[in-house]
Amino acid sequence: MKSALNARLLSAAELVRQDATFADIGTDHAYLPLFLLDAGRISYAYCCDINEGPLDSARRNAEERGRADKLSFILTDGATVLAGRGITDYAICGMGGELIADIIDRAPHLRDGGVNLILQPMSRQEKLRTYLASSGFKIITESYSLDAGKYYVCMQTVFDGKGREISDLEAIVGSPDSRFVGDECRRAYLQGKLRSLSRAHAGKLEAGTDTAAEAELIDSLKAYLGKRE
Ligand SMILES: C[S@@+](CC[C@H](N)C(=O)[O-])C[C@H]1O[C@@H](n2cnc3c(N)ncnc32)[C@H](O)[C@@H]1O
Repeated sequence: MKSALNARLLSAAELVRQDATFADIGTDHAYLPLFLLDAGRISYAYCCDINEGPLDSARRNAEERGRADKLSFILTDGATVLAGRGITDYAICGMGGELIADIIDRAPHLRDGGVNLILQPMSRQEKLRTYLASSGFKIITESYSLDAGKYYVCMQTVFDGKGREISDLEAIVGSPDSRFVGDECRRAYLQGKLRSLSRAHAGKLEAGTDTAAEAELIDSLKAYLGKRE
């Protein structure tokens, strides 16, 4: 796909299927649906946001690019109002992992067969993976990118109804069954995680708190990264 999008949103765009009926939850500027329209990947999109300001900016951008008739703009919290519209691909990008989990949890139709969820958590990625696994969602693809000096992950997820518990390590590194895209970015991202876990661990040690669980997780992440050298 030709790129006029930042690397973070491009990784999301690449996970949207050709000719999808598409919805962008938390659309803000609508860059993602506008890019997908220009690329011929989709022919129509629902742009949703909980706030008027971002939705106005989406409308403005669409009008400037002569695409307003290809988008509908919906002021709403999450994805619940989109039930029954035959939407096949949903993007929920640029929000915290817990908010993304909450939006999914409140919209049962996101569990319908054939629905593709493209999730790009800015934080709490571990909480999102744990929620997805326990709620019966399977992560098919994890695509890593580097954008303006920061690493991001974008997940392609479907509901298969097989809820399961995952380890703390899997919540960080993802499922061995997923397809990983952007190996170098993923490695750098996981090394960053290791550094932040180690810093938090050192802080706890200094404070005299019990750190056995953290130490075990750090060791298992080091071993995981070591195996992939
Ligand atoms: C940081 S922007 C991300 C914009 C775009 N998706 C991206 O990744 O670049 C987050 C947007 O999500 C919207 N938002 C936050 N909570 C939401 C919710 N519960 N339902 C719909 N939109 C929400 C905010 O108003 C904001 O426009």
